[in-house]
Formats: sequence, structure tokens, C-alpha cells
Amino acid sequence: MTHHFPTDFWWGAAASGPQTEGRSPNDSKGASIWDHWFKTNPEKFYQGQGPGQTTQVMTHYQEDLQCMEEIGFNSFRTSIQWSRLIPEGRGAVDQEAVAFYHRYFDELLARGIQPFVNLYHFDMPMALQNQGGWLNRETVTAFAEYAQVCFDLFGEKVSHWFTQNEPIVPVEMGYLYQQHYPAVVDLSMAVQVGYHEALASARAIQKFRRSACTGKIGIILNLTPTYPKDPQNPADQEAAVIADAFFNRSFLDPAVKGTFPQELVEIIDDLGMRPNTTETDLAVIRTNTVDLLGVNYYQPRRVQQKQSPKNGQHPMPEDYFDVYDWPDKKINPYRGWEIYEKGIYDTLINLRDNYDNIPCFISENGMGVENEGRFKNEAGIIEDDYRIQFIKDHLAYVHQAIEEGCHCLGYHMWAATDNWSWLNAFKNRYGFISIDLDTQQRTIKRSGYWFKEVIRENGFS
Ligand code: BG6
Repeated sequence: MTHHFPTDFWWGAAASGPQTEGRSPNDSKGASIWDHWFKTNPEKFYQGQGPGQTTQVMTHYQEDLQCMEEIGFNSFRTSIQWSRLIPEGRGAVDQEAVAFYHRYFDELLARGIQPFVNLYHFDMPMALQNQGGWLNRETVTAFAEYAQVCFDLFGEKVSHWFTQNEPIVPVEMGYLYQQHYPAVVDLSMAVQVGYHEALASARAIQKFRRSACTGKIGIILNLTPTYPKDPQNPADQEAAVIADAFFNRSFLDPAVKGTFPQELVEIIDDLGMRPNTTETDLAVIRTNTVDLLGVNYYQPRRVQQKQSPKNGQHPMPEDYFDVYDWPDKKINPYRGWEIYEKGIYDTLINLRDNYDNIPCFISENGMGVENEGRFKNEAGIIEDDYRIQFIKDHLAYVHQAIEEGCHCLGYHMWAATDNWSWLNAFKNRYGFISIDLDTQQRTIKRSGYWFKEVIRENGFS
């Protein structure tokens, strides 16, 4: 075999609570920003499918987990929904939710699959959003309390915890590019939101260290390696350094090193947008870094020095660089994202060389494809050869990075099952396991059977 992975490598896939749980009539879940946004603006969601539908995991989790066991996963990540466990964001814990998450985690363990549990996947409880959400410092305290509740309730069953998934996304999509609620454009708010998220993650880690939990805690970041148009051109290089500071190092540095990148701090100071901080906060961030890093990798970022005039209305990160549209790029047309396999290797090498080779794993990587039903064979199995190729090409680079000393402990694909994708709802399907939304029938795709072989062999040729 040409690509053999280390013993005990984590093989599996990921999902999140808000993308799989859905709602049932009269359930006791509190509204999240997604429930609220769908109520006020259903037209924003592809084919009017909202967060109440999703894949009904609460009633179908056994079928999902049976398929995952059949494929041979040894680990699976999902998230607890804050607004399900604590409907008002603070205060009373919902006992139905507690019972459900216990059942879910028990069933995973019974099937030999380690639950990796994340606490925040873009799903602010609406009761807290009404008081400012991440703009409000009180939300940081509420998050630490929520984390403590989770550690106390489920700490004996869960040995791998994550504070947040892609914390840059609520910053950029909620406060710069209008794809998440509250969809405003305001860099100063974006900075405050990001700072509070970083502090909240550190405060949750502090709670973890003081708890009885014996496992590991980390964070999951979408790292987008940033390439200058012309690597020999210092102005393009500088543009790449700044874009990297905005979108990667803004969370990577505080999470792993306990500090914020100087380039970013200088820009924010120049703009007079330094968030409200205290010395105590900075000490908490400095001393509560992660044990483990989840890396979500989908696409690179390509930039060049500023060519176009600055948008005069309001400051934006793009005032410091322009996006470079590489004419030779390979693209996933359904999602519009570049496919660049070597980016996963470059990201791991960067962690090896500049982040003390922190233990990490690929926590998401995958390919969303529209109308996958057209690839169904007579047996009802989706023949997603493109996904097999995509995973193979990325895994080969992960393997190379490990051979070169990177401390990468596993590979989770996005996603285990097809699931609901925010504004795109069910447009693109990502899973190893397809779901017929009318019948809720789960069927393993060809990629799932291929992955089963990879897991069995602990590698591939
Ligand atoms: C990741 C997120 O950014 O990408 C997932 O963690 C998301 O929640 C996935 O679903 C794929 O992106 P999208 O927007 O196509 O669902």
C-alpha cells in the first residue's frame, strides 16, 4: 500500500446540531438566530427549506449511526445546540435535551465511535442575540456557563471537546458579508464579535481545565492558506500576509499561542477600532490555549496588492488586498469554491513550522454537489466517484505531510450524512450517506463503501 496512515488514526466525518436536528411540533428548544431568520425571511433560504426540517436526527439517529458503524468510523463530530440545551441561552437546562444527547452519545459509544463534541456551530440563541449576541460581553460569560453545563453533564462520555467551529464565520458572514444573521456590514462590530468569541473560547477552556474532565479540548478553524498572485512581488506578498492575519491568524494565534497577530492589531488600532479589552481578559487568552486543533479545509485564498480603489463607504478587510482570480483554478461549480489539494499540505506544514507542531486533525474537507440523485444506480446507491477522487487527492497530501513530520491525527470528511447547509439548505449534498428527504431513508453512497476499505486497510494505494 502506498499510503499507510499511523495506528489509531481518527477516521470519520462531521456534522452539527443545527444542520441535523431540526424541530418537532411543540418541542422545548429555544429559537436560535437561524430559527428567527427563517421566520422573518424565509425567501433567503434555498427552496424555502429552513432549520426546522434538516435531517431529523433526533428521531433517526440510530439509522445514521448504523450506517457510520457499517462504514467503520472510529470517531464522529457533531455539536450540542446551545438553544436546545438551554433554551434561553442562560438559566434553566432542558431535561429532554439532556436525555437526547445522552442517548445519542451512548449509542455512538456502543457502536465503537468516539463522540467529538463541539459547543458552538454558528447557532447563537435568539434570547442572547436580542441582547447583542457576540457584541455583548455578557454573552462571553453565558458561553462559559453553558460550556460548564456541558462538561458536567457529558464529561464522562466525551473525551474530545471543541469550543467553536469556524469562529471567523460569524464575524465575516454576520458582520461583513451578510450571509448570516444579523447580516450587517460593520468592521468595528466584526472586530468586537471576533474578540468576544476568542475570549469566550479561552474562558470555556479555563472551565474545562478546572472541571473533572480528563479529555482534550480544542477549537475547529477553517484555515484558508493564502497565496500571493506573484510570490516574487513584495506588494503581493504583503497583501497575502494581511489577508492571512484577518482570516486565519485572527483565531489561530490566540487559540494556539494565546496572542493576537501584530499586523492585525496595528490595522485595527489605525482604524480606531480596538475592542474593549482588559488585562485580565488578555491573561485568560494567553493562558488557556488549546490542546488540539481541528482544521477545516475546503479552499485556498488568492490575493494580490490593491489594484482597485478602496470602497469609501465603510472600512473592509478588502481595503488591504484584492482577491486574485487565478485563471487556471479548478473549481467545484456547485459551491463555487476552488479545489486545490496541495492547500491541505501547506496548511499542515504551516502548523508544523509556525505553531509548534500542535496536535491537529482534518476536521472537515469535502465536496457539495447539486442534484446527486442523477448518479443513483439501479440499486439506489449514489455513484459519487468525483467525491472519492476528491478525498483521495486530499488524503494523499495529508499522508505526505505526516511523512514529513506533521502531527496530524485524523481525517473527518464533511459530512457524515447529507445535511442542511444554512442559506443553501439542501441544494448541495455532502455526505457519505444519502438521505431521501421524503422518506428519511438513509443509504450509503459509493464513497462510503470506498472509505470503508480505506479505514479497514488504514490507508489506500
Ligand atoms: C463549513 C461548515 O464551513 O462548511 C459547515 O462548518 C458547512 O457548517 C460546510 O455546512 C459546507 O459549507 P456549505 O455552506 O456549503 O454548507
